[in-house]
Amino acid sequence: MKPVETISWDDTDQAVHLIDQTRLPGGYRNVRCASVDRLIRAIQRLEVRGAPALGVAGAMGVALAARRIHDKDFLQFSEKLAIEAERLRRARPTAVNLSWGVDRVMARAATGLSVKEVRDLTLSEALSVADDDARTCHILGGVGAAILPEKCTILTHCNAGALACREWGTALGVVRSAVESGKEVRVIACETRPLLQGARLTAWELQRDGIGITVIPDSSAAYLMRQGMVDLVLVGADRVTSDVVFNKIGTYMHAICARHHKIPFYVAAPLSTFDPVRTEDDVEVEQRGREEVASFAGVETVPPGVPVLNYGFDATPLSLVEGIITEKGVLRAPLDWDFISREQKK
Ligand code: MRU
Repeated sequence: MKPVETISWDDTDQAVHLIDQTRLPGGYRNVRCASVDRLIRAIQRLEVRGAPALGVAGAMGVALAARRIHDKDFLQFSEKLAIEAERLRRARPTAVNLSWGVDRVMARAATGLSVKEVRDLTLSEALSVADDDARTCHILGGVGAAILPEKCTILTHCNAGALACREWGTALGVVRSAVESGKEVRVIACETRPLLQGARLTAWELQRDGIGITVIPDSSAAYLMRQGMVDLVLVGADRVTSDVVFNKIGTYMHAICARHHKIPFYVAAPLSTFDPVRTEDDVEVEQRGREEVASFAGVETVPPGVPVLNYGFDATPLSLVEGIITEKGVLRAPLDWDFISREQKK
């Protein structure tokens, strides 16, 4: 498998570097984010995206902020750092990993007693967020690979791969680990309207690794299930609350179709994506711009003046989920939230 450096910290120029995912598959370009403003823009434009990668971006964003705030007075420095952290947290609302990554580094920053110490602490914590994510994805991949049949076709939605994480991936991490262990796995990627993360990103990274991949329009998923062409549905998650799994818009309809066709519907997500204190109603679902729906490849596809609705995510009730593949095993409803909260604190 060819490693992908989705997001990294560059010590030489003290900046966050990331693959511009808006250019793939046509172009491979690295973006350098040397300011918090630029990083927030990258998050909002989806140059960097996917829940775990957003966690790393949030974490590195705090380290970046600590380097760009020039106040020598510790109190003023700390106040400004808190403001920058809040701006990062709010860059996108649905994936909990973003605020989780920011909060994890801010908790470490709170133990520092000088500007220099906080700068050092924020960077070392941000780097361990990135390392932990990579390690977690590999463990989770192994857990998921163990429950896959020797030969299967998996339908996935959006991109829950190396590009959505530091490396390896969650749902696609399971696929990679299964292929590595000798299983014969093929993937059907729903294109994922309107921004085509499935067609552009999932297909790009699996083709690069030589894993069998076919892209379909989102609208053909039910028919393929009816034709017996799908053994399992496997997606990532942006937030798991006590009642639902938030993931890319379209996920819910796959879950309903899978249940109708008696096909297991699995979610792969690290514990950092679990939000024990919230329910569906507490979570803001991102609504994105009209232009993403009202045009295609630069051509207008909706008459001017006709409104569009562009929710970025939907919520799938846990009752439709066969299991959530995590680094701590496959969790099944009803979820043991005491266990999850305890493990999250470790
Ligand atoms: O809008 P995006 O591209 O950030 O949405 C990403 C998804 O919905 C992914 O499925 C999810 O973050 C899981 S990534 C491991």
